[in-house]
Amino acid sequence: ITREILGCNTLKNISEVGKYCHPQVSLTACSMDLSDMRKKYKGDEECFEENHLVSLDPIKQFGDWFDQATKCPEIGEPNAMCIATSTRDGRPSARMVLLKGYSEEGFRFFTNYESRKGGELESNPYACLCFYWEPINRQVRIEGNVERIPYQSSCDYFHSRPKSSQIGAVVSRQSTAVPDRNYLRQKNAELEEKYKDTDVPMPDYWGGYIVKPYLIEFWQGQTNRLHDRIVFTRLKHGEGVLEEYEHNADAGWVYQRLSP
Ligand SMILES: Cc1cc2nc3c(=O)[nH]c(=O)nc-3n(C[C@H](O)[C@H](O)[C@H](O)COP(=O)(O)O)c2cc1C
Repeated sequence: ITREILGCNTLKNISEVGKYCHPQVSLTACSMDLSDMRKKYKGDEECFEENHLVSLDPIKQFGDWFDQATKCPEIGEPNAMCIATSTRDGRPSARMVLLKGYSEEGFRFFTNYESRKGGELESNPYACLCFYWEPINRQVRIEGNVERIPYQSSCDYFHSRPKSSQIGAVVSRQSTAVPDRNYLRQKNAELEEKYKDTDVPMPDYWGGYIVKPYLIEFWQGQTNRLHDRIVFTRLKHGEGVLEEYEHNADAGWVYQRLSP
C-alpha cells in the first residue's frame, strides 16, 4: 500500500519502510511483483448458469445484478463505472463516471461535452462501459453507440443537483489546463456570489449521454478460474440465423456462453 501511494524516490528515503511493505516489494529496482495476489472467488456450487438468468432480456438481467450490488453494504458506489472512449484513429482512453439511469433504451451518464471524453464521443460515438462489483465478484461489460440525451432532460437533471454541484459544473471547463487550485477556488467563490439568489443556468457544454447497447456481458468470478461469461448481442435488423452455441433471447437479443 505504501508503495502505491508514495513515489519510488520517496520510499527509498523512508527508514524502516520494509516493515510496512509486502515482502516482495523491491525498493532498489522500483518494480513490484504481484504474482501472488489472488483472491478466492466463489465455489463451483455458486456458479452462474444459464438457468440462473432472471430474464433473457439483458437490461432486466442487468437490473437484477445492479439491485444486488446496491444492497451489498461493502459496495460504496455501485453505479460507478469505467467508460472507455476512443479517438477516431483508435487511441483509447478510460475513466470512471457515475451511471445516472438505465432503461431498455440504454445507460445514461452526465459530463462536460467539451471534455476529453466528450471530444472523443463527438468524433467517434461508441463507448464501452465496465462495472466491477468486487465483493460479489461480478463484472458487467456494455458496448454501444452513444448519443446526447435531449437538452431538456439534461436541464432537468442539472437543476435537480445541489447548487454547489451546479456551480462546480460551471466552474470546471473539464479537461482543460488551469494555473493552480486557487484559480478554481476563486472562480467558484465568484459564481457562488453571482448566483446566490438566482438559479444557475446550465452551461451549453454540459449534459447527458446515453449508451445504446449492442453487447452486454455478465461475468461471474469463480475460484477455480472457470469463470462464467454470458454475453448478449443485439440481433441486427434482418439477421435471424443463430451461430453455433448461440441462443435466442428476448427483446431482439441472442446470447452465448464464452470461455473464461
Ligand atoms: C467514482 C467517480 C465518479 C465520477 N463520475 C463522473 C461523472 O459522472 N461525470 C464526469 O464527467 N466525471 C466523473 N468523474 C471524473 C472522471 O473520472 C474524469 O476525471 C473526468 O470526467 C474527466 O475525464 P476526461 O478528461 O477523460 O474527459 C468521476 C470520477 C470518479 C473516480
